[in-house]
Amino acid sequence: MSADDTHAPVEYPTEEISLTINGESVAAEVEPRHKLSDFLRDRQGLRGVRVGCEHGVCGACTVLLDGRAVKSCLTYAVQVDGAEIETVEGLADDGALHPIQESFHEEHALQCGFCTSGFVMATKELLDDNPDPDRDDIEAGLADNVCRCTGYQNIYDAVNRAADRLEDGATTDASDHPGSGEADDE
Ligand code: FES
Ligand code: FES
Repeated sequence: MSADDTHAPVEYPTEEISLTINGESVAAEVEPRHKLSDFLRDRQGLRGVRVGCEHGVCGACTVLLDGRAVKSCLTYAVQVDGAEIETVEGLADDGALHPIQESFHEEHALQCGFCTSGFVMATKELLDDNPDPDRDDIEAGLADNVCRCTGYQNIYDAVNRAADRLEDGATTDASDHPGSGEADDE
């Protein structure tokens, strides 16, 4: 091997994947080493998918994979071929926040907001499975997500409020809260 060869760009093999992201069909060529978190952020522009620890600890990168909450930093893009992915960007409806997002807003369940999209997606899975969770259910449902700012109480209150709103048949309606209708950009 010559000295020049050691600096030659490495070409990795790619695989084609087809999946659904927030209701849209997507096809892409990805390297097998490419993480789902990076694919969503860098290739799909979905920056609501946060990257914190990249070790599967903080939950900031949580998305729904066929309805189940997964850490996208621990998932390879090639693993989601044929799957349905939902990120926080998929929750709002034509600019109106989802009841879970509204509830986080109303309960002041965030400070810096870095963890928030992961908590919101974990809450979505929790309430889809259990529309009337008690405190233990909420703590268990959010156990894979870490927040370094809020102390959690307001997050738990937000989940309770979201459960109530959804039970009452709430739809995405930001009109009660001026200024909250824009897409969540934490
Ligand atoms: S960035 Fe994925 S769990 Fe922390
Ligand atoms: S609001 Fe800052 S990490 Fe949760």
